[in-house]
Amino acid sequence: MNAPNRHLLGIEGMAPPTILEILDLAESYALLNRSGKTRRDLLRGRTLINLFFEDSTRTRTSFELAGKRLGADVINMAVSQSSVSKGETLVDTATTLNAMNCDLLVVRHNRSGAPALLAQKVDAAVINAGDGTHEHPTQALLDALTIRRRKGRLEGLVVAICGDIAHSRVARSNILLLTTMNCRVRVVGPPTLIPTAIENFGAEVFHDMRAGLAGADIVMALRVQKERMSGGSVPSAREYFAFYGLDAAKLAYAKPDALVMHPGPMNRGVEIDSAVADDPTRSLIREQVEMGVAVRMAVLDLLARGGI
Ligand code: ASP
Ligand code: CP
Repeated sequence: MNAPNRHLLGIEGMAPPTILEILDLAESYALLNRSGKTRRDLLRGRTLINLFFEDSTRTRTSFELAGKRLGADVINMAVSQSSVSKGETLVDTATTLNAMNCDLLVVRHNRSGAPALLAQKVDAAVINAGDGTHEHPTQALLDALTIRRRKGRLEGLVVAICGDIAHSRVARSNILLLTTMNCRVRVVGPPTLIPTAIENFGAEVFHDMRAGLAGADIVMALRVQKERMSGGSVPSAREYFAFYGLDAAKLAYAKPDALVMHPGPMNRGVEIDSAVADDPTRSLIREQVEMGVAVRMAVLDLLARGGI
Protein backbone atom coordinates (compact mmCIF):
# COMPACT_ATOMS: atom_id res chain seq x y z
CA MET A 1 0.00 0.00 0.00
CA ASN A 2 1.19 3.55 -0.76
CA ALA A 3 2.12 5.82 2.15
CA PRO A 4 -0.66 8.32 2.89
CA ASN A 5 -0.29 11.75 1.30
CA ARG A 6 0.72 14.44 3.78
CA HIS A 7 -0.92 17.16 1.67
CA LEU A 8 -4.16 17.55 -0.28
CA LEU A 9 -3.12 19.16 -3.55
CA GLY A 10 -5.65 17.71 -5.96
CA ILE A 11 -8.00 14.88 -6.90
CA GLU A 12 -5.65 13.69 -9.66
CA GLY A 13 -4.28 10.28 -8.75
CA MET A 14 -6.73 9.74 -5.88
CA ALA A 15 -8.04 6.17 -5.86
CA PRO A 16 -11.69 5.21 -5.18
CA PRO A 17 -11.01 3.81 -1.65
CA THR A 18 -9.40 7.12 -0.62
CA ILE A 19 -12.32 9.13 -2.00
CA LEU A 20 -14.77 6.85 -0.19
CA GLU A 21 -12.82 7.11 3.07
CA ILE A 22 -13.06 10.92 2.93
CA LEU A 23 -16.76 10.88 1.95
CA ASP A 24 -17.68 8.39 4.70
CA LEU A 25 -15.86 10.40 7.37
CA ALA A 26 -17.42 13.62 6.03
CA GLU A 27 -20.85 11.98 6.21
CA SER A 28 -20.30 11.36 9.93
CA TYR A 29 -19.25 15.01 10.36
CA ALA A 30 -22.38 16.15 8.49
CA LEU A 31 -24.49 14.27 11.05
CA LEU A 32 -22.43 15.64 13.95
CA ASN A 33 -22.84 19.20 12.63
CA ARG A 34 -26.61 18.76 12.36
CA SER A 35 -26.70 17.53 15.97
CA GLY A 36 -24.96 20.74 17.06
CA LYS A 37 -22.06 18.85 18.71
CA THR A 38 -18.34 19.50 18.17
CA ARG A 39 -15.11 17.52 18.63
CA ARG A 40 -12.80 20.13 20.04
CA ASP A 41 -10.31 17.54 21.32
CA LEU A 42 -9.22 16.38 17.87
CA LEU A 43 -7.09 19.34 16.74
CA ARG A 44 -6.44 20.91 20.14
CA GLY A 45 -3.02 22.55 20.15
CA ARG A 46 -2.79 22.52 16.34
CA THR A 47 -2.63 25.68 14.26
CA LEU A 48 -4.37 26.18 10.93
CA ILE A 49 -3.56 29.21 8.78
CA ASN A 50 -5.81 30.30 5.93
CA LEU A 51 -3.61 31.91 3.28
CA PHE A 52 -5.89 33.23 0.55
CA PHE A 53 -4.36 35.24 -2.30
CA GLU A 54 -7.75 35.24 -4.06
CA ASP A 55 -11.14 36.22 -2.70
CA SER A 56 -13.40 33.61 -1.14
CA THR A 57 -16.59 33.43 0.89
CA ARG A 58 -17.43 29.73 1.17
CA THR A 59 -14.05 28.01 1.18
CA ARG A 60 -12.27 30.30 3.61
CA THR A 61 -15.17 30.49 6.06
CA SER A 62 -15.80 26.77 6.00
CA PHE A 63 -12.12 25.92 6.61
CA GLU A 64 -12.23 28.34 9.54
CA LEU A 65 -15.40 26.76 10.92
CA ALA A 66 -14.09 23.24 10.31
CA GLY A 67 -10.83 24.00 12.12
CA LYS A 68 -12.63 25.60 15.06
CA ARG A 69 -15.17 22.78 15.39
CA LEU A 70 -12.24 20.37 15.72
CA GLY A 71 -10.47 22.56 18.29
CA ALA A 72 -7.64 24.06 16.19
CA ASP A 73 -6.30 27.58 16.60
CA VAL A 74 -7.30 29.22 13.31
CA ILE A 75 -5.66 32.28 11.81
CA ASN A 76 -6.94 34.03 8.70
CA MET A 77 -4.06 35.85 7.05
CA ALA A 78 -5.23 39.12 5.50
CA VAL A 79 -2.98 38.92 2.45
CA SER A 80 -3.76 42.47 1.29
CA GLN A 81 -2.55 43.83 4.67
CA SER A 82 0.48 41.52 4.85
CA SER A 83 4.07 42.06 3.78
CA VAL A 84 3.14 40.61 0.39
CA SER A 85 2.31 44.26 -0.43
CA LYS A 86 5.97 45.11 0.29
CA GLY A 87 7.12 42.56 -2.26
CA GLU A 88 7.58 39.47 -0.07
CA THR A 89 7.33 36.36 -2.23
CA LEU A 90 4.85 33.52 -1.91
CA VAL A 91 7.53 31.10 -0.73
CA ASP A 92 9.00 33.57 1.80
CA THR A 93 5.52 34.26 3.14
CA ALA A 94 4.80 30.56 3.57
CA THR A 95 8.17 29.74 5.16
CA THR A 96 7.64 32.62 7.61
CA LEU A 97 4.29 31.13 8.66
CA ASN A 98 5.91 27.70 8.80
CA ALA A 99 8.53 29.00 11.23
CA MET A 100 5.67 29.79 13.62
CA ASN A 101 4.98 26.03 13.73
CA CYS A 102 1.82 26.10 11.71
CA ASP A 103 0.43 22.56 11.26
CA LEU A 104 -2.08 23.07 8.45
CA LEU A 105 -1.72 25.64 5.67
CA VAL A 106 -4.79 26.21 3.50
CA VAL A 107 -3.78 28.00 0.30
CA ARG A 108 -5.75 29.68 -2.49
CA HIS A 109 -3.79 31.32 -5.29
CA ASN A 110 -4.48 32.54 -8.81
CA ARG A 111 -1.46 30.60 -10.15
CA SER A 112 -1.90 26.90 -10.92
CA GLY A 113 0.67 24.91 -8.94
CA ALA A 114 1.23 27.43 -6.13
CA PRO A 115 0.11 25.04 -3.33
CA ALA A 116 2.26 22.24 -4.77
CA LEU A 117 5.28 24.56 -4.73
CA LEU A 118 4.65 25.46 -1.10
CA ALA A 119 4.22 21.82 -0.13
CA GLN A 120 7.87 21.33 -1.07
CA LYS A 121 9.01 24.20 1.12
CA VAL A 122 7.09 23.87 4.39
CA ASP A 123 6.65 21.27 7.14
CA ALA A 124 2.93 22.02 7.47
CA ALA A 125 0.35 19.94 5.64
CA VAL A 126 -0.74 22.02 2.64
CA ILE A 127 -4.33 21.99 1.42
CA ASN A 128 -5.19 23.37 -2.00
CA ALA A 129 -8.21 25.67 -1.64
CA GLY A 130 -8.20 26.46 -5.39
CA ASP A 131 -5.19 27.18 -7.61
CA GLY A 132 -5.66 29.05 -10.89
CA THR A 133 -7.49 26.90 -13.42
CA HIS A 134 -5.94 23.72 -12.01
CA GLU A 135 -7.83 22.11 -9.09
CA HIS A 136 -10.20 22.75 -6.20
CA PRO A 137 -10.20 19.33 -4.53
CA THR A 138 -12.39 20.02 -1.50
CA GLN A 139 -15.07 21.46 -3.81
CA ALA A 140 -15.18 18.21 -5.81
CA LEU A 141 -15.35 16.19 -2.58
CA LEU A 142 -18.21 18.28 -1.19
CA ASP A 143 -20.03 18.04 -4.52
CA ALA A 144 -19.65 14.25 -4.51
CA LEU A 145 -20.89 14.01 -0.93
CA THR A 146 -23.92 16.19 -1.78
CA ILE A 147 -24.75 14.03 -4.81
CA ARG A 148 -24.30 10.76 -2.91
CA ARG A 149 -26.55 11.90 -0.04
CA ARG A 150 -29.38 12.78 -2.44
CA LYS A 151 -29.03 10.05 -5.06
CA GLY A 152 -27.74 7.30 -2.76
CA ARG A 153 -24.79 6.52 -5.02
CA LEU A 154 -22.31 7.98 -7.52
CA GLU A 155 -21.78 5.06 -9.87
CA GLY A 156 -23.70 5.22 -13.15
CA LEU A 157 -25.10 8.73 -12.66
CA VAL A 158 -25.08 11.11 -15.62
CA VAL A 159 -23.61 14.46 -14.55
CA ALA A 160 -23.74 17.43 -16.96
CA ILE A 161 -21.26 20.19 -16.07
CA CYS A 162 -22.31 23.35 -17.93
CA GLY A 163 -20.71 26.62 -18.89
CA ASP A 164 -17.19 27.94 -18.46
CA ILE A 165 -15.25 24.68 -18.32
CA ALA A 166 -12.04 26.21 -19.67
CA HIS A 167 -11.38 28.48 -16.70
CA SER A 168 -12.87 26.27 -14.00
CA ARG A 169 -10.77 24.39 -11.46
CA VAL A 170 -14.09 23.13 -10.07
CA ALA A 171 -14.83 21.44 -13.41
CA ARG A 172 -11.39 19.85 -13.54
CA SER A 173 -11.52 18.42 -10.02
CA ASN A 174 -15.10 17.26 -10.52
CA ILE A 175 -14.33 15.52 -13.82
CA LEU A 176 -11.39 13.73 -12.19
CA LEU A 177 -13.39 12.63 -9.15
CA LEU A 178 -16.65 11.71 -10.86
CA THR A 179 -15.02 9.68 -13.64
CA THR A 180 -12.92 7.86 -11.01
CA MET A 181 -16.19 6.97 -9.25
CA ASN A 182 -17.71 5.73 -12.53
CA CYS A 183 -20.15 8.56 -13.20
CA ARG A 184 -20.82 9.48 -16.83
CA VAL A 185 -19.57 13.04 -17.09
CA ARG A 186 -20.59 15.47 -19.81
CA VAL A 187 -19.34 18.99 -20.35
CA VAL A 188 -21.70 21.40 -22.06
CA GLY A 189 -20.76 24.87 -23.26
CA PRO A 190 -19.71 27.06 -26.18
CA PRO A 191 -16.57 25.88 -28.04
CA THR A 192 -14.65 28.93 -26.74
CA LEU A 193 -15.17 27.77 -23.15
CA ILE A 194 -14.38 24.06 -23.56
CA PRO A 195 -10.67 23.20 -23.42
CA THR A 196 -9.28 21.08 -26.22
CA ALA A 197 -8.53 17.46 -25.33
CA ILE A 198 -11.04 17.46 -22.44
CA GLU A 199 -12.19 14.07 -23.82
CA ASN A 200 -8.88 12.68 -22.57
CA PHE A 201 -10.23 13.20 -19.06
CA GLY A 202 -13.15 10.92 -19.87
CA ALA A 203 -15.79 13.62 -20.36
CA GLU A 204 -18.18 13.74 -23.32
CA VAL A 205 -18.41 17.15 -25.02
CA PHE A 206 -21.67 18.91 -26.01
CA HIS A 207 -22.23 22.41 -27.33
CA ASP A 208 -26.01 22.26 -27.14
CA MET A 209 -27.90 22.27 -23.82
CA ARG A 210 -30.77 20.11 -25.13
CA ALA A 211 -28.46 17.28 -26.18
CA GLY A 212 -26.08 17.71 -23.24
CA LEU A 213 -28.79 17.63 -20.59
CA ALA A 214 -30.86 14.80 -22.09
CA GLY A 215 -31.07 12.04 -19.47
CA ALA A 216 -28.89 13.88 -16.92
CA ASP A 217 -29.33 13.10 -13.20
CA ILE A 218 -27.31 16.11 -12.08
CA VAL A 219 -26.92 19.47 -13.83
CA MET A 220 -24.05 21.56 -12.51
CA ALA A 221 -23.89 25.19 -13.66
CA LEU A 222 -20.55 27.00 -13.46
CA ARG A 223 -19.83 30.69 -13.10
CA VAL A 224 -18.54 32.52 -16.15
CA GLN A 225 -15.07 33.43 -14.81
CA LYS A 226 -14.53 36.86 -16.30
CA GLU A 227 -11.42 37.43 -14.16
CA ARG A 228 -9.61 34.59 -15.97
CA MET A 229 -10.58 35.65 -19.51
CA SER A 230 -8.53 37.93 -21.67
CA GLY A 231 -11.78 39.02 -23.37
CA GLY A 232 -13.86 37.83 -26.27
CA SER A 233 -14.63 34.32 -25.02
CA VAL A 234 -18.34 35.01 -24.57
CA PRO A 235 -20.81 37.30 -26.32
CA SER A 236 -23.10 39.48 -24.17
CA ALA A 237 -24.47 38.13 -20.88
CA ARG A 238 -27.96 38.19 -22.37
CA GLU A 239 -26.95 36.07 -25.34
CA TYR A 240 -25.00 33.68 -23.09
CA PHE A 241 -28.06 33.22 -20.89
CA ALA A 242 -30.27 32.54 -23.91
CA PHE A 243 -28.03 29.67 -25.07
CA TYR A 244 -26.45 28.30 -21.88
CA GLY A 245 -28.20 29.87 -18.87
CA LEU A 246 -29.85 27.14 -16.78
CA ASP A 247 -33.54 27.99 -16.52
CA ALA A 248 -36.65 25.84 -16.06
CA ALA A 249 -37.05 25.33 -19.82
CA LYS A 250 -33.52 23.95 -20.25
CA LEU A 251 -33.68 21.92 -17.01
CA ALA A 252 -36.72 20.17 -18.51
CA TYR A 253 -34.35 18.49 -21.03
CA ALA A 254 -32.80 16.53 -18.12
CA LYS A 255 -34.43 13.67 -16.17
CA PRO A 256 -37.64 14.71 -14.37
CA ASP A 257 -35.89 14.22 -11.00
CA ALA A 258 -32.61 15.89 -12.05
CA LEU A 259 -31.02 18.06 -9.37
CA VAL A 260 -29.21 21.36 -9.85
CA MET A 261 -25.83 22.35 -8.44
CA HIS A 262 -23.59 25.43 -8.55
CA PRO A 263 -20.32 25.84 -6.61
CA GLY A 264 -20.97 29.57 -6.03
CA PRO A 265 -20.63 32.46 -6.28
CA MET A 266 -23.49 32.68 -8.80
CA ASN A 267 -24.03 35.20 -11.55
CA ARG A 268 -27.83 35.15 -11.49
CA GLY A 269 -29.30 35.70 -14.93
CA VAL A 270 -26.01 34.75 -16.65
CA GLU A 271 -25.31 31.03 -16.06
CA ILE A 272 -28.34 30.31 -13.86
CA ASP A 273 -31.86 31.64 -13.42
CA SER A 274 -32.99 32.57 -9.90
CA ALA A 275 -36.17 30.48 -10.24
CA VAL A 276 -34.01 27.33 -10.64
CA ALA A 277 -31.28 28.29 -8.16
CA ASP A 278 -33.83 29.02 -5.42
CA ASP A 279 -36.17 26.08 -6.05
CA PRO A 280 -35.82 23.88 -2.93
CA THR A 281 -37.20 20.85 -4.78
CA ARG A 282 -34.46 20.96 -7.44
CA SER A 283 -31.52 22.97 -6.12
CA LEU A 284 -28.74 21.49 -3.95
CA ILE A 285 -26.81 24.75 -3.69
CA ARG A 286 -27.40 25.31 0.03
CA GLU A 287 -26.64 21.69 0.83
CA GLN A 288 -23.36 22.01 -1.09
CA VAL A 289 -22.32 24.78 1.29
CA GLU A 290 -23.34 22.73 4.33
CA MET A 291 -21.39 19.70 3.07
CA GLY A 292 -18.38 21.95 2.52
CA VAL A 293 -17.90 22.26 6.28
CA ALA A 294 -18.24 18.49 6.80
CA VAL A 295 -15.79 17.64 4.01
CA ARG A 296 -13.23 20.12 5.29
CA MET A 297 -13.53 18.68 8.81
CA ALA A 298 -12.86 15.22 7.37
CA VAL A 299 -9.84 16.46 5.42
CA LEU A 300 -8.35 18.26 8.44
CA ASP A 301 -8.99 15.23 10.63
CA LEU A 302 -7.23 12.84 8.21
CA LEU A 303 -4.27 15.15 7.57
CA ALA A 304 -3.80 15.76 11.30
CA ARG A 305 -3.74 11.99 11.82
CA GLY A 306 -0.92 11.58 9.31
CA GLY A 307 -2.29 11.87 5.78
CA ILE A 308 -4.88 11.02 3.17
N1 ASP B 1 -15.63 29.49 -6.01
C1 ASP B 1 -15.16 28.58 -7.02
C2 ASP B 1 -13.66 28.74 -7.20
O1 ASP B 1 -13.05 29.50 -6.47
C3 ASP B 1 -15.91 28.74 -8.30
C4 ASP B 1 -15.96 30.14 -8.85
O2 ASP B 1 -15.31 31.04 -8.31
O3 ASP B 1 -16.66 30.31 -9.84
O4 ASP B 1 -13.12 28.10 -8.05
N1 CP C 1 -17.14 27.55 -4.28
C1 CP C 1 -16.14 28.34 -3.80
O1 CP C 1 -14.97 27.98 -3.80
O2 CP C 1 -16.59 29.52 -3.29
P1 CP C 1 -15.65 30.71 -2.75
O3 CP C 1 -14.88 31.22 -3.93
O4 CP C 1 -16.61 31.71 -2.18
O5 CP C 1 -14.74 30.12 -1.71
